Amino acid sequence: MKANIGFGIVGAGLIAPFHINAIKDSRGGKVIGVFDVVMARAEQVAEKYAVRVFPSLQEMLEDSSVTVVCVATPNHLHRDAVIRAAKAGKHVLTEKPPAMSLRETDEMIDVCQKANVKFGCFVQCRVRSAVQAMKSAVDAGRFGKLLHADAYMKWFRPQEYYTSDGWRGQQQSGSGVTVAQGFHYIDLLQYLAGRARTVEARMTNIGHPGISLEDEALARIQFTCGAEGVVQLSTALWPGTDIRIEMNGTDGTAVMVGEKIQTWKFRDERPEDEQIRTLGNSSQATGAGGAADLGHRDHMIVVQDMIDCIGSDREVVISVVSVRHTLEIVLAMYQSAKQGRPVSLPVSDDDTLWS
Ligand SMILES: NC(=O)c1ccc[n+]([C@@H]2O[C@H](COP(=O)([O-])OP(=O)(O)OC[C@H]3O[C@@H](n4cnc5c(N)ncnc54)[C@H](O)[C@@H]3O)[C@@H](O)[C@H]2O)c1
Repeated sequence: MKANIGFGIVGAGLIAPFHINAIKDSRGGKVIGVFDVVMARAEQVAEKYAVRVFPSLQEMLEDSSVTVVCVATPNHLHRDAVIRAAKAGKHVLTEKPPAMSLRETDEMIDVCQKANVKFGCFVQCRVRSAVQAMKSAVDAGRFGKLLHADAYMKWFRPQEYYTSDGWRGQQQSGSGVTVAQGFHYIDLLQYLAGRARTVEARMTNIGHPGISLEDEALARIQFTCGAEGVVQLSTALWPGTDIRIEMNGTDGTAVMVGEKIQTWKFRDERPEDEQIRTLGNSSQATGAGGAADLGHRDHMIVVQDMIDCIGSDREVVISVVSVRHTLEIVLAMYQSAKQGRPVSLPVSDDDTLWS
């Protein structure tokens, strides 16, 4: 077992305790300290978890006991922290979305590659055992011809969620439901069904007056494999229900609700299928009713993978390279909604989440 891989956390807000608990629960990881531009937030978190407060990002980056930097700042600020951390020789795990444009994402990937550091992203739903079972079934061709890959996220966030911190209510910070919450499930669709060819989306605000962001999105994705995808996203639907991922093909159907397999049926029934039908935990919160309404186990698996990967030649299991296409689909959705027409991929590297 690796001993004491030190982690520093940049941004001590809502998600930071999930990172800290994930690192604490890992084998070989250790939280060294946190940094936040609002010192009082860093101090509060540091006191609660008995870790250090770094007075600046620079001091975190100069500390040789910090091997990995977790970036948990608002979406539009990931880039700067990632690039500075990589240039200081730190491995990096960034929160989603990696950045606000493909150009920024590519720049971050390039800097990490040149610095020879690992660069992963917390799209942690990918590591759920139910998702891994679906991925194996896709790779084994068990769906036959894949016809549908759909994501339904009918969630609730109260008005205060959007007003509690300035950036949460701003399109320029990447805070609409499509990129802020839906990103995870759009990511699962591209992870499972492959690249998208065309995207058509409509976006509205139905439940959060005075906030100039979409809290609802409805999209249709055509994948290059020939499958169609329906994406329905909302944070306006009280009390919020677990997400559903539905995969249908000529030879099989799989449905995940929350993190649990609800339907698992293939023409070629296999001995392992009975066990797969029991995967997931229906009582594990997966974010439907509130931003902090989730467990940290999936984050822990991403953290553990980073620890295990350090010192080896292999890439992290959720590299930012593999998440780039999710951002591309999201960018195409925003363009489509704005222009009122389908958008074909690729989109321009310079499109941003607010252009
Ligand atoms: N993976 C998930 O399931 C998940 C869930 C929630 C949030 N997130 C992501 O985590 C990130 C943070 O979200 P949050 O909900 O914790 O936000 P938050 O507003 O609660 O916390 C962000 C913190 O960053 C601090 N900050 C701002 N600029 C900074 C800077 N330049 N350097 C250091 N600190 C800075 C703020 O003061 C704040 O304390 C976002 O990218 C969000 O998308 C991911």
